[in-house]
Amino acid sequence: MEKRQHWDSRLIFIFAAIGSAAGLGNAWRFPYRAATNGGGAFLIPYFVALITAGIPLLIAEFAIGYKFRAGAPTALGKVKKGWEALGWWSVGVGFVIVTYYSVIMAWVFDYLWYSLSTAWGDAPADFFLNKVLHITSGPGELGGFSIPVLIGLVIAWIAVYWTIRDGVKSVGKVVKWTVPLPVIMLGILVIRALTLDGAVEGIRYYLDPDFSKLLDPKVWAGAYGQIFFSLSVAFAVMIAYASYLPKKSDITNNAIITALANCGISFMAGFAVFGTMGYMALQKGGTVADVAGSGGIGLAFWVYPEAIRLLPFGTVIFALVFYIMLLTLGIDSFFSIIEGVVAGVADKWQLNKKKTTRVVVLAGFVLSLLFATKGGLHWLDIVDKYINDYGVIGVAFFEVIAIGWVFKSKKLREFVNPISELKLGGWFDILLKFITPLALGGILIWNIVQEVIDVTKGNYYGGYPLWSVAVGGWIVAVVLIVASFILAKTKGKETLEEAPEKE
Ligand code: PHE
Repeated sequence: MEKRQHWDSRLIFIFAAIGSAAGLGNAWRFPYRAATNGGGAFLIPYFVALITAGIPLLIAEFAIGYKFRAGAPTALGKVKKGWEALGWWSVGVGFVIVTYYSVIMAWVFDYLWYSLSTAWGDAPADFFLNKVLHITSGPGELGGFSIPVLIGLVIAWIAVYWTIRDGVKSVGKVVKWTVPLPVIMLGILVIRALTLDGAVEGIRYYLDPDFSKLLDPKVWAGAYGQIFFSLSVAFAVMIAYASYLPKKSDITNNAIITALANCGISFMAGFAVFGTMGYMALQKGGTVADVAGSGGIGLAFWVYPEAIRLLPFGTVIFALVFYIMLLTLGIDSFFSIIEGVVAGVADKWQLNKKKTTRVVVLAGFVLSLLFATKGGLHWLDIVDKYINDYGVIGVAFFEVIAIGWVFKSKKLREFVNPISELKLGGWFDILLKFITPLALGGILIWNIVQEVIDVTKGNYYGGYPLWSVAVGGWIVAVVLIVASFILAKTKGKETLEEAPEKE
């Protein structure tokens, strides 16, 4: 049996965990969600979600990864036989996400290149959709590959393979750079943004509180979804990362540091994005809401380039800073998902990690090709919506049941407290056993009810045809669940060491 690798130091582990958490989601999902879901008032559901679900689940994932020294399927299978399937489900959800996350990274690589000549000229939206993606009319028309995206994709996967080829050893070397660098870049962008005319208007749009939004369940569901995606919990990633912790590692404090650093980066990104949007609104005439558009992919690939174009000086420099930030933010999230999948597969069958990494990277690359087609963006949009609304929340719900009730949160505290700086009291049980599952279960049911209402009314997500939503959303979900049970049924190889209860 291969000896299990360990992180070189506590700092490297924290860096890797923050690197996974802080990704593209922080740069464009958070600021936009906050702005449109109540501004400063959104911080309330966001922090409630962080405290009642994000941090408890992160502690729980770190704890079981550390204790059982294995990726999510094997670790959850050790909580109780039969729960291994849940681990595979989370691996599956991560794997689906990585197939399109890699394509967004491909665009970022392309844009690093385009930045040098600000190739988007004075029509960034047209450039992105028609010159880079060559977007088709709908999901029914794939239209062959977009060559720039294909090139970016090959580069992205090679970069990731190179980073994880030696497991946590090589990952440790890379996160030393990819975690501090985006924070520095973001700092530069915040200063630039806040010193522009009109920035105050943008910040007002970002943070002006609208408390009436707090009555809308959608805002709460959005806050929980954002927290999970952002903290990378319920994706098999944090369990795998914690399984490489050396003995006697802190759990609770590491989880809290990771969570707070991640949310801090999100909050900061809002100033860079909306400060700049305020300036753009002033230049073009119009409101911040008008120029900011609908956030998401558009924000990073055409709204921001448009804003950079209007800067008084340093266009190329600020474009480069922006895309280097996205690249370094996203790349460690990207490879963390692969690591979660690799740990899951290698630990179950005791396979050689290097070979497993090669196979997983190759499989991920092949599947990601779908999203590199000219119709890829439509599919990306559909898959992203469903995997987040159902896959992630579903996994998270069952995971708190598995850890809070089956493993028992009291046992978890007794295991975690002696090795952690911060001690968890009885209140933690109330969180993990009642509040977190109730919140998650409520959101899951609410999402399903909304979906049923929309579908019966003939309102399919994004206005896409029914069959495409069924394939990219529902069928993917069913396939993942069935595959998880099948994988859990197949025989693995036992023999993993466990972390000692006490030393
Ligand atoms: N947390 C990352 C982000 O905010 C995305 C991610 C999701 C990474 C799942 C790993 C696992 O972009």
